[in-house]
Amino acid sequence: MYNPTDTNSLIANRRSVYPKQYNGTPVADAIVEQMLENANWAPTHGRTEPWRFVVFTGTGLEQLADLFQRNYKENTPAESYDEGKYEKQRESILQSSHVIAIIMKRQEIEKIPEVEEVSAVACAVQNMWLTATAYSIGTYWSTGGPTFKHQGKAFFNLGEKDKLLGFLYVGNYDGDLLAGTRKPIADKVQWVK
Ligand SMILES: Cc1cc2nc3c(=O)[nH]c(=O)nc-3n(C[C@H](O)[C@H](O)[C@H](O)COP(=O)(O)O)c2cc1C
Repeated sequence: MYNPTDTNSLIANRRSVYPKQYNGTPVADAIVEQMLENANWAPTHGRTEPWRFVVFTGTGLEQLADLFQRNYKENTPAESYDEGKYEKQRESILQSSHVIAIIMKRQEIEKIPEVEEVSAVACAVQNMWLTATAYSIGTYWSTGGPTFKHQGKAFFNLGEKDKLLGFLYVGNYDGDLLAGTRKPIADKVQWVK
């Protein structure tokens, strides 16, 4: 039913494509909606479906850029504060077509261990990343800026046990991507027969 060769190639050719590589052409919302739909098919222990996403695009990106700047200002000691770095906080966001905030919503009863919930969200992100690859759209997962800061939690109105896990940057790019590299899988696997 599926073509294993295409699947293998899609997985191996998924790359991190960074905002500085984006060409400014907007990605159709319909493609982002398909990425989100595929995220929703991630595996989930206990069917908690803990992934939540906030999609920024158009003028919405300015609100996220404001958050990044405020986060930098409030978390940088006066002696290392750099106005250039402050200005740069907006750059990656505004170079993107869409930026998707990645959130883990903790189950009220906390029955499923947190590590499993984070794992489920990571599966959802990989689904989005592979979908983007299939559409030749650039994406990358960043854990920078306000990801692990209280400014991020407050902005997204998260509960104490919820987690902001980063941002998926999305944009169109031109040309070919560099091939990825990995150390051999054989070095990371033991078979027991
Ligand atoms: C959970 C997670 C967080 C990441 N955070 C960052 C980040 O903050 N900055 C960055 O440049 N890349 C980040 N990356 C992307 C990795 O750097 C990238 O996946 C790695 O270099 C391998 O390249 P590839 O994705 O093209 O195979 C992150 C990836 C993952 C899975």
